[in-house]
Amino acid sequence: MKLESRLACWKRRALAVAALSLSMTAASTSAQEKVRVASPDGRNIVTVQTLREVEKDGKIQWETGLFYHAERDGRKVIMPSRLGFEFRDAQALRDSLTITGTARNAVDETWEQPWGEVARVRDHHNELRVSVAETGESSRRFDVVFRVFDDGIGFRYELPKQPELESFNITEELTEFSFADNARAWWIPSNRPRLDRSEMLYASSPLSVLDSVQTPLTLETRDGSTAIVIHEAHLVDYPRMFLAGVKLEDRTLRAALAPLGDGVKARGRTPFTTPWRTIQLADRAADLAPSVIGLNLNPPTVLGDLSWIEPMKYVGIWWAMHINKWTWGSGPRHGATTQNAKHYIDFAAANDFGGVLVEGWNLGWDGDYMSNRELFSFTKPYPDYDLVEVAAYARRKGVGLIAHNETSGGLVNYERQMEDAFALYHSLGINAVKSGYVTDTIAGGHSHYSQEMVQHHRKVIEAAARHHIMLDVHEPVHATGEQRTYPNMMTREGARGQEYNAWSGDGGNPPEHETILFFTRMLAGPMDFTPGVFDILIASTDGPPRPPEAARVRTTLAKQLALYVVLYSPMQMAADLPENYEGQPAFQFIKDVAVDWEETRVLEGRIGDYVVVARQERGGPDWFIGAITDEEARTFEVPLSFLPAGRRFVAEIYADGEGAHWLHDPFPISISSRPVDAGSTLSLRLAPGGGQAIRIRPAE
Ligand code: NOJ
Ligand code: CA
Repeated sequence: MKLESRLACWKRRALAVAALSLSMTAASTSAQEKVRVASPDGRNIVTVQTLREVEKDGKIQWETGLFYHAERDGRKVIMPSRLGFEFRDAQALRDSLTITGTARNAVDETWEQPWGEVARVRDHHNELRVSVAETGESSRRFDVVFRVFDDGIGFRYELPKQPELESFNITEELTEFSFADNARAWWIPSNRPRLDRSEMLYASSPLSVLDSVQTPLTLETRDGSTAIVIHEAHLVDYPRMFLAGVKLEDRTLRAALAPLGDGVKARGRTPFTTPWRTIQLADRAADLAPSVIGLNLNPPTVLGDLSWIEPMKYVGIWWAMHINKWTWGSGPRHGATTQNAKHYIDFAAANDFGGVLVEGWNLGWDGDYMSNRELFSFTKPYPDYDLVEVAAYARRKGVGLIAHNETSGGLVNYERQMEDAFALYHSLGINAVKSGYVTDTIAGGHSHYSQEMVQHHRKVIEAAARHHIMLDVHEPVHATGEQRTYPNMMTREGARGQEYNAWSGDGGNPPEHETILFFTRMLAGPMDFTPGVFDILIASTDGPPRPPEAARVRTTLAKQLALYVVLYSPMQMAADLPENYEGQPAFQFIKDVAVDWEETRVLEGRIGDYVVVARQERGGPDWFIGAITDEEARTFEVPLSFLPAGRRFVAEIYADGEGAHWLHDPFPISISSRPVDAGSTLSLRLAPGGGQAIRIRPAE
């Protein structure tokens, strides 16, 4: 059929369906159906329509389907972008669609987080539900629900139960993000040949050259007017979303879903709801954090009693393995011995830390642990680790234990054992688990981020909650706000953390790394980055000599402190060996810094260059400031106007010392204190690759 006659036919069908629809709105009767919804402040507007204009060979043509576009302050941000699905054994839900009805809702409520970057979150949005039906031989139906907030847009698909669409195999989600501007993007690739993970360094480039990237994807328009973050929220029973450049010249990215072993992306039965696709919007990158749009798009908590969930600082039998001093597996340098664990518990108790992580305590590590997915036991310790005695010792000292569960991607082995393991931990007073999914391939050929993996992670969260266990997940699926529903889902990795400074052949993380993480990965949720390495040149290993090009920490000492404030995690590690903190005055800051926040304010920030953030401790009067820079030295004037007026405070300042430089001399640190109040301004001087950490406490 020629395009014009197809269009005419489509218009007739559209009119017929629209005329039949009871919930029909005025907007659905015109051939070019269009409906709109605006944010409460009126700045962000989404329009949904069933035709789009495309220019081909200098001629304007019309495409049919379902499209949305978005503008902010009257400026286009997202051009008409397609919505829909392709299926394995069924026609695509894509063309010949008509809007059969709309429904609206408005919400303005404030809810409290059990822990977080802010204590209270305002959910203020306008909702538009767009009901859509096919106009051809089949008449399948679906809804797209848009929620438009002052800080961005969320939308998702809802497939109602219907005879023509009972079960399905989605092979593509057709959701597009067609950008009006060739904005600059900060990205990590998603098509790495082997390691299916997120532990890469970020690159920055115009979005038109992007091939396949991970979310959160952060962009800045070339005129500097808008910062945009594409991500997803409430990922429960669906694959993780990547973004693929489909039509580079059009600056269009399309949802690319992580596949199951047989290539299908998502399997399900109606009724079915997809995750939210989110477009966070801000006037400048510094206004993106703390990001709450994903939290607002997740359901409220389903857990009753939350008293067992407690943010904490922790130390662990961990860094010693990464720097090759101890081993995970058995032998003369086995790290997880009863004696070593007691030593770490004593250290945690003496410094008022909440937990001790013990890695390598359980059977299964010997040999190449990445191939041991069937061998790990999550209940049986090595003979030199008396699990029961260590747990009793920790209880006596008032310290929690974090049991480590490396799965090496063995989902079946883990799911078979986890109920028993969590019950055992709970009976011993162990209230937290750090899990891990180090592997190149998930059994069955699934992607690390497939629907099956997403389902697995949800099973683990639910099982952990039943046994009052908090979770810290490494090599995870990215965070999509699940901690609102399950606040025991504390933190996760999902980016290049400090560990790369111990062993990466490429020298570790460059000085700009954390100034990018803040505006990208951290917008998804907390990260277990594991800051606080004081032995910056990693001299304390007993392992084989380190070659000169070996990785090392590429920050100053003061920057290690600042990371506690900048990189948010409700479980925050003091990563170094206890002996490396001994006799170090700078350690006082790690002891003092809070891990749960009443309020967060980003005072300064440029992606890849610097961040200055102030946070008020939850349930206390202290404020903390963290400032970090890339390889450039920088100075900031920071007015303390966020302090309550009329009250006297003392600022305890941990600054880069004379001559400090991340490469040449990372150690000089200058610790001082001075009286301050709401009228004071602090001058922060940061060395190349440096930082500054400040505690502001009441004078009395
Ligand atoms: C990688 C994790 O990121 C790290 O923290 C852990 O120690 C190792 N895997 C071993 O499980
Ligand atoms: Ca890792």
